[in-house]
Amino acid sequence: MQDPRFTNVLLGWYAEFGRDLPWRRTRDPYAIWLSEIILQQTRIVQGLAYWERFMKRFPTVELLAEASEDEVLRLWQGLGYYSRGRNLLTAARQIVARGSFPDTLAEIRALKGVGDYTAAAIGSIAFGIPAAVVDGNVYRVLSRFYGIATPVGTTAAKKEFTALAQALLPQDRPGDFNQAMMDFGAMQCTPASPLCLTCPLAARCEALRSGRTALLPVKKPAVPLKTRRLHYVLLRCGGQVAMHRRGPGDIWQGLWEPYLEEGDFRGFPGMKLVKKDVRHQLTHRTLIADFYLLDCNERPSLTDDYIWIPEAELDNYAKPRLVEILLQYI
Ligand code: ADE
Repeated sequence: MQDPRFTNVLLGWYAEFGRDLPWRRTRDPYAIWLSEIILQQTRIVQGLAYWERFMKRFPTVELLAEASEDEVLRLWQGLGYYSRGRNLLTAARQIVARGSFPDTLAEIRALKGVGDYTAAAIGSIAFGIPAAVVDGNVYRVLSRFYGIATPVGTTAAKKEFTALAQALLPQDRPGDFNQAMMDFGAMQCTPASPLCLTCPLAARCEALRSGRTALLPVKKPAVPLKTRRLHYVLLRCGGQVAMHRRGPGDIWQGLWEPYLEEGDFRGFPGMKLVKKDVRHQLTHRTLIADFYLLDCNERPSLTDDYIWIPEAELDNYAKPRLVEILLQYI
């Protein structure tokens, strides 16, 4: 269903209130792609500083493609979801290998780390491809405005909202429309207490008319979070500390951490408790960590994935945010 009034009001709102972001002042697909990867699981205020750092260190995709994974992960440090950082490097090498930035939806979608949403965002913003983005903001705005109660997170909702967003998308300004939906959902039609009093779409909003802004979008019941218990011991011996690199198939792949036992804990005689029950929230897991220190004269025997590094060089190793926090207690 096309709805030119909806589309025009939204674009008018965006012209007046849309956020002024550096990647909106360029059509460089590399800069736009980088912004979309960073913003996949990160808020704009936090992502902005990282985008600027990456653009400064790697102004072109060729320079990024030549970087080491360690350097990319170090720059990525603190953003979380480190697979994004690794995929970024893989995709940069894909782009350089093919000779230019891909400019069709299918080829953009084929880049490592790019899903449907990100492909539509990059394609529409950088190349004017008429592909609608569909995310939480889009679900919220459309479910409220049109009074759609299909529970989000279901296949039916994905189909329904994708078709609707695609029909509303103006063919000549897909990038503006998509970014207008993102900003409108983030700034005006917010999850809690939407600003209906100043909303330019209020006159035709079905949720507002029927008093259901707090009930839409309808959510599926959440699955309970899992908890993991971590016991870290910083082993320190003659100014050197033991670290190892996390392997594949779990959180924090490729990042460095001190000696770790998960679940039941034996530890080492003589270690001292530094900090207990530090809670750390990942999207699908709560981590609870204890942190111990063992100052030793002789190196304990460890599995051979551990290396000993001078304590002063800890900064050079990319670590999970939780480990950074724990190390600050030393
Ligand atoms: N979130 C993801 N991509 C975005 C963009 N281009 N503008 C605003 N928010 C976003």
